[in-house]
Amino acid sequence: MAINYVLFRRRIFAWYTKHSRTLPWRNTGTTIDPYRVWVSEIMLQQTTTKTVEGYFDRFLKRFPTIAELAAASMDEVSRLWEGLGYYRRCVQMHRAAQEIVTRFGGVFPNRRDDVLSLPGIGRYTAGAILSIAFDQRQPILEANTIRLHARLLALRADPAQNEANTLLWNFAEKILPKKNAGRFNQALMDLGNLVCTCQEPQCIYCPVVSFCETAKQGLQSEIPYQKTKEKKEYRTEVALLVRKKGKILLVRYPEGVRWAGLWDFPRAETDAEQPNHIAADPKLRERLALITGHHLEPETLIETIKHSVTRFRITLLFFTGTDHGKISLTENTKPYELQWVTLSELHHIPLNSTGRKLVQNINQKTLW
Ligand code: ADE
Repeated sequence: MAINYVLFRRRIFAWYTKHSRTLPWRNTGTTIDPYRVWVSEIMLQQTTTKTVEGYFDRFLKRFPTIAELAAASMDEVSRLWEGLGYYRRCVQMHRAAQEIVTRFGGVFPNRRDDVLSLPGIGRYTAGAILSIAFDQRQPILEANTIRLHARLLALRADPAQNEANTLLWNFAEKILPKKNAGRFNQALMDLGNLVCTCQEPQCIYCPVVSFCETAKQGLQSEIPYQKTKEKKEYRTEVALLVRKKGKILLVRYPEGVRWAGLWDFPRAETDAEQPNHIAADPKLRERLALITGHHLEPETLIETIKHSVTRFRITLLFFTGTDHGKISLTENTKPYELQWVTLSELHHIPLNSTGRKLVQNINQKTLW
């Protein structure tokens, strides 16, 4: 069915006036600060609004301007980002802030090519910033709108595939109003989030259900296309609390591995089936040696935590450990960066989320 765009837009705006979500990055009064929109959109990449709500105000309070973000140390920015995940985003945002200072005099650019040239900004984020902050007629496509549009169009193909993706972008552009494109885009995201949900969409509350091919055909549970989930993989890893002269050993994940740039306790996978076999597991010692360049020996189990990273379900065992000194590694093996820190220094160092959890428990158990 051909969509009557005028009517479609009118219904979307009317719905949004009544049902828009109250979110901290929307409370900007009459003038919209592109910097706030940018920070919120970067935080919202692959992260729920609920999680971002706990971070946004704190981040803006510490870095109220682009110049202040650009001047901060990477460690301080990372420390505030801790727990938000996809840590690369904050590295790129920090770099982009520095570029905005040097290339654009600290003023967020409003030309599409300039915005797209900044690290960490792709087609979606550029569209969101330009429409929301500058009221430019630019489309967006993210999780909520992919689902909404795929359903409106009864698109059965995988939205990640080229042809389907192009179709969705074209649709996202075609439906945009001339004015208030930012408001319209946010309305679409809220509609996707609140009504056109993954499971059991609330079609009776949808203002554009009469335009929806999927609702017409009753295919809500089949559209959008769902990737078959990767199989879960269970593994056991060990992290070590190694102390020497009142200091604790940390390692820094290098580029190209999970948690790149963040610090953690020396940590590796074990093949041991039972906790009392772990201290003697030669594979574990070998892996720890490759990472640290030290001969580390696990000793006593302090605690166990469970967490997930992508498809991995990880049981993490936190042991005390002893450093038996440096070992010589082969020339092509380079250990991670190491540092010995005091407990109070640990509070200022950017750690991965399990590292931070373990630190809290060191405090509680007063191991010192
Ligand atoms: N997801 C990504 N950007 C968003 C925004 N501006 N509002 C609500 N959800 C979003």
